[in-house]
Amino acid sequence: MRKKLVFLGMGGTIAGTAASAGDNVGYTAAQVGVQALLDSVPGLKAVLGGHTALSEQVCQIDSKDLVPADWQALLYRVTHYLAMDTVTGLVVTHGTDTLEETAYFLSRTVPAELLSRKSVVLTCAMRPASSLTPDGPGNMADAAAVALCPGAEGVLVVCAGKIHSAAHVQKVHPYRTDAFDSGEAGPVGLVEEGRVRLLNAWPAAPANAPAVASIALPASAWPRVELLFSHAGATGAVVRALLQQDAGDAPLRGIVVAGTGNGTIHQAMETALLAAQGQGIRVVRVSRCAYGQVVGGSPSDRSGAFAASGLSAVKARIALMLEIAEQP
Ligand code: SIN
Repeated sequence: MRKKLVFLGMGGTIAGTAASAGDNVGYTAAQVGVQALLDSVPGLKAVLGGHTALSEQVCQIDSKDLVPADWQALLYRVTHYLAMDTVTGLVVTHGTDTLEETAYFLSRTVPAELLSRKSVVLTCAMRPASSLTPDGPGNMADAAAVALCPGAEGVLVVCAGKIHSAAHVQKVHPYRTDAFDSGEAGPVGLVEEGRVRLLNAWPAAPANAPAVASIALPASAWPRVELLFSHAGATGAVVRALLQQDAGDAPLRGIVVAGTGNGTIHQAMETALLAAQGQGIRVVRVSRCAYGQVVGGSPSDRSGAFAASGLSAVKARIALMLEIAEQP
């Protein structure tokens, strides 16, 4: 039987359309179905080799509006297809704005055994499908080449000829087609004329992914974790406002603070966070710097009172959500 490469559609600019083909910014995201996107990939047959392409629309959304239920829907389809012997790998078309969050979520939740010899490759575009010069079709072809590359494994992001790991990828530009970067770690590899050139090892799947069943929470039961920045002139007001529970809101369970430099926090905000921690709210601090991570303790202030994470702020938020969901 012919093996399959599965394309899952989530929406985004890659599926966006504008009134004019010359307009690369005034478009509506998430308009074109994943099968139509697939049909627009030049030379797909050659990339697929003997594989059959299969497509499924999971969501059709501007990724800034994603909610945990969308991640769950994607996780179920990803695990469903990865478990099939006839499926070699997966490509997910997705908006760029929260791509790194979805990639990180999948890297933490897809069972490791399903990713040991297969990859889930998220791809995207910075220009809409209706553009005179769309970047989506080329990115999809590159993503397919990576998903079919012997030895490829883990959750990956492919954009503008670069392969990034879910752990390190970050959107770094609001307009350029080469909008993603892997910071100090560098990309996993490159795709050149359909060929993969590896620069780093394929990412290992975390051994301790929560069982899919354990995160099968109703959307309303996902632990609410908010994200704050510390900055010059920060106060405790925003923390106190978060603690004033509104009747319609899910209960606050955690706060991630993107701190200055080595994860330090303005003393006024820190005092309020210590009070929140005293009320059972989990507080995690990260660095708001573009590179590096929180190193050691912070003897010059009280920030050592909060757990530190080496992840970016948005990924640390997901990590804390999963941790609380697993051990409420
Ligand atoms: C989105 O993230 O869904 C819209 C923006 C983009 O894909 O570049």
